[in-house]
Amino acid sequence: MVKEEWIKKGFVDEPVDDTLDLKKEIRRMCKEKGAIILAHYYTVGDIQDIADFVGDSLALARKAAETDAKIMVMCGVHFMAETCKLLSPDKTVLCPDLNAGCSLADSCKAEDLKVYKEEHPGYQVISYVNTTAAVKALTDCVVTSGNAEKVINAFPKDAKLIFGPDYNLGNYINSVTGRNMLLWNGGCHVHEKFSVEEIIKLKKENPDALVMAHLECKAPVLAVADIKGSTATMLKYAQSHPETKKYIVATEAGILHEMQRTCPDVTFIPVPPEVSEGSLGCSCNECNYMKLNSLKKIYNTLKYGWPSIEVDPAIAKEAVKPIEKMLSLS
Ligand code: 13P
Ligand code: SF4
Repeated sequence: MVKEEWIKKGFVDEPVDDTLDLKKEIRRMCKEKGAIILAHYYTVGDIQDIADFVGDSLALARKAAETDAKIMVMCGVHFMAETCKLLSPDKTVLCPDLNAGCSLADSCKAEDLKVYKEEHPGYQVISYVNTTAAVKALTDCVVTSGNAEKVINAFPKDAKLIFGPDYNLGNYINSVTGRNMLLWNGGCHVHEKFSVEEIIKLKKENPDALVMAHLECKAPVLAVADIKGSTATMLKYAQSHPETKKYIVATEAGILHEMQRTCPDVTFIPVPPEVSEGSLGCSCNECNYMKLNSLKKIYNTLKYGWPSIEVDPAIAKEAVKPIEKMLSLS
């Protein structure tokens, strides 16, 4: 039975026996219940280590569309779990903590996008996957950072396009495709903080290092980056260039776990964020939402079968179309 207290908190807050080997128990429960664990690269290493599949948001969406498992535990953030549910409506999608939101998804409310669309007749909407189902339902095609350039290039050169909500990604795609998409002014609170001054300083100290940056970073950061792309793009680059022994990495620090695991003799230096006035020198290049996932919450979500993701059927019917369009174009 789902307790009132859990609903208020957004996760199952029940004590877990300290003597349990949580990793073993989670794997045992997955087998027993026919569940798989999907994890994003930004979750903590312990979760990535027990996951059936670890990937970027594009690979996670693909996996959700093709899996036979009855239950998926999506260890990432809420929009990723919602995408899994949209693609596999008959499956149970568990989300260990419903508070795992996304500042970028929050920067575009469906009601605001609806008004903006009405103000721009004749425009099609391209939305980044980091959006709610309600925003996707108003969208013509979804993209991820792993396929944005390819998918947008599939639209005629003179197509009138609105891109949202990530301004930096849209601005970058405009610059490489020569388009003039109208850009929503949203952003990610982690990626907007990476400091170009820190990258230049690190580059001086490590002249042999290449700079990697996620496409959600600001234009000055992308301008000094040698490798720009999604989390998977950066990871694959390091894995396929064994001659490069050092990277300066401008994305959420969780990716370093998989980079270091698969390239053990390479040095990955995480870029610290800008230290703004009043931030007390905080150097949090971590996504607080991703870090809400924990082994204890995964154990409890599997044990109690809650929280699970539900999407209003009328919204789901519309929201799945632009995701399927993306998958067919990428
Ligand atoms: P990826 O598509 O690279 O996994 O990025 C998702 C994300 O939320 C980055 O902040
Ligand atoms: Fe959202 Fe930013 Fe966290 Fe990615 S890192 S999930 S964009 S808040």
